[in-house]
Amino acid sequence: MLIEQKIQELLDKRALARLGGGEKGIAKQHEKGKYTARERIAMLLDEGSFEEFDMFLTHRTTDFGLEKQVYLGDGVVTGYGTIDGRLVYVYSQDFTVLGGSLSETMSKKICKVMDQAMKVGAPIIGINDSGGARIQEGSRSLAGFAEIFQRNINASGVVPQISAIFGPCAGGAVYSPALTDFILMTEQNSYMFLTGPKVVKTVTGEDVSVDQLGGALVHNEKSGVSQFMAKTEEEGLQLIRDLISYLPQNNLEEAPRIECNDPIDRKEDSLNAIIPDNPNKPYDMKHIIHAIVDNGEFLEVAKDFAKNLIVGFARFDGKPVGIVANNPAFLAGVLDINSSRKGARFVRFCDAFNIPIVTLVDVPGFLPGTVQEYGGVITHGAKMLFAYGEATVPKVTITIRKSYGGSHLVMGCKQLRADINYAWPTAEIAVMGPSGAVEILNGKEIAGIENAEEKTEFIAKKEKEYRDKFANPYDSAKYGYIDDVIEPRNTRFRVIRALQALETKKDTNPPKKHCNIPL
Ligand code: HXC
Repeated sequence: MLIEQKIQELLDKRALARLGGGEKGIAKQHEKGKYTARERIAMLLDEGSFEEFDMFLTHRTTDFGLEKQVYLGDGVVTGYGTIDGRLVYVYSQDFTVLGGSLSETMSKKICKVMDQAMKVGAPIIGINDSGGARIQEGSRSLAGFAEIFQRNINASGVVPQISAIFGPCAGGAVYSPALTDFILMTEQNSYMFLTGPKVVKTVTGEDVSVDQLGGALVHNEKSGVSQFMAKTEEEGLQLIRDLISYLPQNNLEEAPRIECNDPIDRKEDSLNAIIPDNPNKPYDMKHIIHAIVDNGEFLEVAKDFAKNLIVGFARFDGKPVGIVANNPAFLAGVLDINSSRKGARFVRFCDAFNIPIVTLVDVPGFLPGTVQEYGGVITHGAKMLFAYGEATVPKVTITIRKSYGGSHLVMGCKQLRADINYAWPTAEIAVMGPSGAVEILNGKEIAGIENAEEKTEFIAKKEKEYRDKFANPYDSAKYGYIDDVIEPRNTRFRVIRALQALETKKDTNPPKKHCNIPL
């Protein structure tokens, strides 16, 4: 064969591989409003940066007529490329090939990029669009999943792992995304469930649609399985690019600093007036976050789940931080089961990847009641406590308003190794709020007062006494639990200085195999 013919053969094979399951399948994918595996990679990565592996790999199954359905590259496109010039590894399941169902061959391809990403220390991004284990391959496809899961587990806390769900993700297949750091779903065509609607109907008699069972809304609002929801695939892929910009390549590196054009000493006068005079009146904590971070840019994580706690990434002086903040605009900012799960996972992610944590506190306590207690709020709250206590990254805490009882301890208190703790003059740091305290401390006296007016007057007097003593930052500052009381408008500057001072912080945990976080 002449060299020209050999080159032509290569080009023909490449062209065939790029067609995946064929033009019909591609047209079907487009009809559903979905992109192909390769189109998605092209949108995710910097233009022209993609280097593909294993384009000529095929499955080896001869059962059920599969020997007649052989496609170059099988049902997944794998390789590496860059996002804003930084290396990432990627795999993208191709639904046009046997519904993207996972074969032994596909598993090998995915494991190859995961192994290499671990060796070089680069993030792994998986795009899921698959009918699950390839049924015709039996236990080989199951084993293929397990090989991927093991790598997800090994990579956890070593390189960032991000999963996009752009189609079905069913059965055991859900567990690979679930083992990664972040899941992103699209509003349409994206669903995750362990058992589909038909099985649900048979077993429980429940009638549910695919979307009701495991659509993007369900997993972003109710279950918390997914942390990001995008209107379109384009928007989703851009979101992943944004997310990557806040993360280091691996656990041995720092997150990348970018040039900061927002003055670090910018004073934000509006903050001096943001806290309502009435301590029971809500305000939106997001105003404070946007006001203090670089250029008001904040990438919120899990924004539709447990809205009483805000978590996400921002920058101070160009350097990424993780922000954890109670939001009094939802459930008065209380902590509960879901917000504790959300917060703990986020804090642990930041700690694993050397991202400093800035905590903004306005929390009246834990949500009381049987629903919470029966649901194990003790264990879930302990997760958050544990996450803060084990985190060795720089931790800066600003108490904005309320910080009561157990929830005060959970939200980055000094004794759980926060490094710098500031409070606004509006802070109230105590064992509990004035009305609860008076009820307990003066209950008998209150019960003894028969005249209703006198009773109200007595309660108001006692509450004032308590408020004057404890509903301020100075009792804590007196003991050094608060390092300084700061003027709200100076918050940005003070946080930046604190983070600068902590940049070389070194802290460790005692040697152990691993901790036993209350799961
Ligand atoms: C082999 C599969 C397949 C699978 C889909 N296909 N899923 N082939 N194994 N798991 C094939 C179809 O036969 C079809 O082939 C093509 O992919 C497209 O599928 P359609 O059904 O035509 O597409 P659509 O109508 O969009 O429906 C998509 C779907 C449906 C909802 C995903 O295909 C489906 O329900 N698949 C099975 C889902 C499932 O139960 N998976 C769990 C498997 S068990 P042709 O040739 O007709 O185009 C599992 C356990 C893993 O995953 C455990 C790991 C621990």
